[in-house]
Amino acid sequence: MSKFVITGGKELEGKIDISGAKNAVLPIIAASLLTLDKVVLEDAPDLLDVQVMGQVIESLGGKVKRKNKKLYLEIKDVENIEAPYDLINKMRASICIMGPLLARVGRVRISHPGGCAIGSRPINWHIKGLEQLGAQVRMDHGFLDITASRLYGARIYLDFPSVGATENIMMAAAAAEGTTVLENAAQEPEIVDLANFINEMGGKIRGAGTNIIYIEGVKEFHGTSHTIIPDRIEAGTYILMAAACGGEVLIRNVIPVHLASLLAKLDEAGVVYREDGDGIRVIGKGNYHAVDIKTQVHPGFSTDLQAPMLAMLTRAQGTSMVTETVFENRFMHVDELKRMGADIRIEGRSAIVHGVEELHPATVNASDLRAGAGLVLAALTANGTSEVREIHHIERGYENLDAKLRGIGADIFRED
Ligand code: EPZ
Repeated sequence: MSKFVITGGKELEGKIDISGAKNAVLPIIAASLLTLDKVVLEDAPDLLDVQVMGQVIESLGGKVKRKNKKLYLEIKDVENIEAPYDLINKMRASICIMGPLLARVGRVRISHPGGCAIGSRPINWHIKGLEQLGAQVRMDHGFLDITASRLYGARIYLDFPSVGATENIMMAAAAAEGTTVLENAAQEPEIVDLANFINEMGGKIRGAGTNIIYIEGVKEFHGTSHTIIPDRIEAGTYILMAAACGGEVLIRNVIPVHLASLLAKLDEAGVVYREDGDGIRVIGKGNYHAVDIKTQVHPGFSTDLQAPMLAMLTRAQGTSMVTETVFENRFMHVDELKRMGADIRIEGRSAIVHGVEELHPATVNASDLRAGAGLVLAALTANGTSEVREIHHIERGYENLDAKLRGIGADIFRED
């Protein structure tokens, strides 16, 4: 297993370029199944998860090629309707092929995705929405066997604004007969990027980014070239690292409105930053007031920034309360942070964080993508050398993290 060796306690100086959004490019790769034409995706981050998604598309009969930041896709013929178990198991986000594959060939067989470190992550709302569009769903030896001779527009209300369910339903409805009204839809920027992509291929989707999305089905889709939006979670992670370490860092290729909830909390904490061109410049002084955080669906504070934010709050002045409302088990970073000297107590869905003077270096394990990022942040602030292990979790969602951090003066190296 690989690890990061980090010698912390240094201020950070320089510029970091943010890559394309992982959580936008994954469903957009799946949506490429809707057309027989060529699709080009610009600013597609080169991440493990994106490679897996490409392998899923290839397993269905598609062609996927990467040239630097561009991804070239062409799915002229779907030869297979079952994504391999090991790929689905490797990355649950691959369930977003359900909607487009149903729309394309009327059938999909997919292993019911397992849970992961952060929770059981059921897909009941995906299934309910697809059934309302006319699909029949059968469980067959752990596989979901979904068929839909025709898909019809429907009025669908989501019990919870699930990002994945909104995406699957939107992609299936885009090719259904008639209009679908999707209420209580997720409003994340990645949903807007997916809707824009589908519209660029000839789709007719209105209202993405609000809680009601209108999808008028169309018969066919043509190819397109699309630039993926910047990754707001990667950007937020580096903004927090810069604030926690002190110094001055320009995080470029950022859409500030995507980070409104984080920026509001940084104001409250006393972090000094300003918009600068297409980026955010952080002038960190390294110590801040404690703040209370409650993760919510967008536009609330993102659950994906909870771990890095909590890691920064371990050294804030005062006591912070961090409440995780989206996933049921997203505090795995807490025990590891406590081994670095953080003073944190879990009470139900909240973590009570008493600020300490400093964290001590230690060897810690990443349990999932964002928890790992929080541990890297903590190690960057601890005086001395830490090791963050199981970094394959981190590399699923952060492109060239060690190189980007070295570029702003961090002492971090990857060791296999
Ligand atoms: C997406 O996951 C993101 N992943 C997650 O990012 C992100 O944390 C999450 O949205 C919330 O913003 C991708 O986009 C690839 P949900 P998703 O459906 O779609 C429950 C990262 O770190 N639920 O909005 O799976 C579910 O268990 C990842 O980049 C059901 O109960 O999230 C969870 O508790 C982690 N039934 C909550 O809803 C369902 O049918 C939110 O899940 C679907 C979801």
